[in-house]
Amino acid sequence: MQKFISISPEETEQIAFRLSQTLKGTEIIAMFGGLGAGKTAFTRGLSRGLGINDGVSSPTFALVNEYEGKFRIYHFDMYRITCYDDLYSTGFFDYINNGIMVIEWSENISSFLPENLITITIEYLSETEREITIEGAEQI
Ligand SMILES: Nc1ncnc2c1ncn2[C@@H]1O[C@H](COP(=O)(O)OP(=O)(O)OP(=O)(O)O)[C@@H](O)[C@H]1O
Ligand SMILES: [Mg+2]
Repeated sequence: MQKFISISPEETEQIAFRLSQTLKGTEIIAMFGGLGAGKTAFTRGLSRGLGINDGVSSPTFALVNEYEGKFRIYHFDMYRITCYDDLYSTGFFDYINNGIMVIEWSENISSFLPENLITITIEYLSETEREITIEGAEQI
């Protein structure tokens, strides 16, 4: 387990950028943390580390966005997913092993997540401070 304190969105992106450098291409990255925690900021840094420089925003309406960089990235937002059928209909299970999956609101699908994953927990400490806990990843 690795823990970091981030004091700005840029620092959160930087931590994610460092994590991206350890990835092999098919990881499942489950992010936990409520509204405005910084999950999209984290995804932005991760994507930048894989050569994707723009267009990363919360896929709240699309449910999943796809980016192509060093690896393919599937960026999910599970905010509105409440049951297995909802999750199944996003195509979630078909994406596994076809790219990196980065998942916002993993709380909502926690019972359907595979065992082998990286978890990112972002805890809100104050307006600009976050505690970021990374589990299941290589040392960054
Ligand atoms: N240390 C920090 N790390 C990340 N974001 C921060 C930090 N400090 C302040 N912020 C602010 O918190 C917000 C994080 O927004 P972001 O969209 O990344 O959150 P989110 O977890 O994806 O939210 P949502 O659940 O709505 O998708 C931004 O407005 C950002 O400027
Ligand atoms: Mg978001």
